[in-house]
Amino acid sequence: MLKGRVVVVTGATRGIGFATARELAARNATVVVCSRDIATAEKAARRIGKKAHPASLDVTSAKSVSSFVKKVVADHGRIDILVNNAGYPFDPKIWYKKMHRVSDEELGAVLAVDLEGTFRITKAVLPLMVKSGKGVVISISSTPAIAGYTEGAPYSIAKAGIVAMTKHAALEYGKDNVRAYVLALGNIATDATFNSMTARAIKAATQESAMKRWGKPQEVARTIAGLATDDFSFATGNTIVVDGGTVLF
Ligand SMILES: NC(=O)c1ccc[n+]([C@@H]2O[C@H](COP(=O)([O-])OP(=O)(O)OC[C@H]3O[C@@H](n4cnc5c(N)ncnc54)[C@H](OP(=O)(O)O)[C@@H]3O)[C@@H](O)[C@H]2O)c1
Repeated sequence: MLKGRVVVVTGATRGIGFATARELAARNATVVVCSRDIATAEKAARRIGKKAHPASLDVTSAKSVSSFVKKVVADHGRIDILVNNAGYPFDPKIWYKKMHRVSDEELGAVLAVDLEGTFRITKAVLPLMVKSGKGVVISISSTPAIAGYTEGAPYSIAKAGIVAMTKHAALEYGKDNVRAYVLALGNIATDATFNSMTARAIKAATQESAMKRWGKPQEVARTIAGLATDDFSFATGNTIVVDGGTVLF
């Protein structure tokens, strides 16, 4: 059902982004696999196969975003689906700081990727979707954006902005047949999370959800693939919580 669609996945070289790019390619979409480092993107694209096309993209740079979009249009003609997955790397020095100790620079570093970067690439892609008369923007947020958390305030603040951005995109571009969704993820076992935590923290996180387990990147990827199809043609602006039943609203 995604055959012929041109998809951009930001931060697609590992974790959830990689699983998503692989899932969409397996469903016959043409997938642009993005990384700040082209060699890393090429390696990831090779692992996925011939439906994957590597590209260099740093969402914090207006210049990078502009040349990226020009290149994708030159190579593939349009962008049908944008998956905003790129996120600031987990940094324990920022994550575990009490809110009043977070510096302007630390807040700015997280916002620059997760919020401003997501907005920058979305802003660049929306006119293409309007021009082609269709499009789907799927952005990755996190449950603390809805429910708050006891750690990682800069991250929650940035991810909450993505929820607002999604609602705006849905309301402003619905008439252009552009849909927008945001996923609020719970604990997903990627190297960036699972493998960087202590055994005790992993166990505690396991107990948080009704399902008493971590999610898999592939489960997020399949949710994204479903939303990208026309099966969701009359739903837009939604926040979809993918957390095994932790934050219920
Ligand atoms: N894992 C979880 O439990 C969880 C929970 C809630 C939300 N999330 C969100 O889900 C997304 C993926 O998480 P993950 O665990 O798979 O993370 P990850 O392994 O750290 O991957 C993050 C990706 O973002 C890219 N990236 C970082 N800075 C970038 C920039 N300036 N421009 C473009 N790309 C950039 C990286 O690509 P390069 O280094 O190759 O450029 C990398 O591929 C993130 O937005 C994260 O916040 C994850």
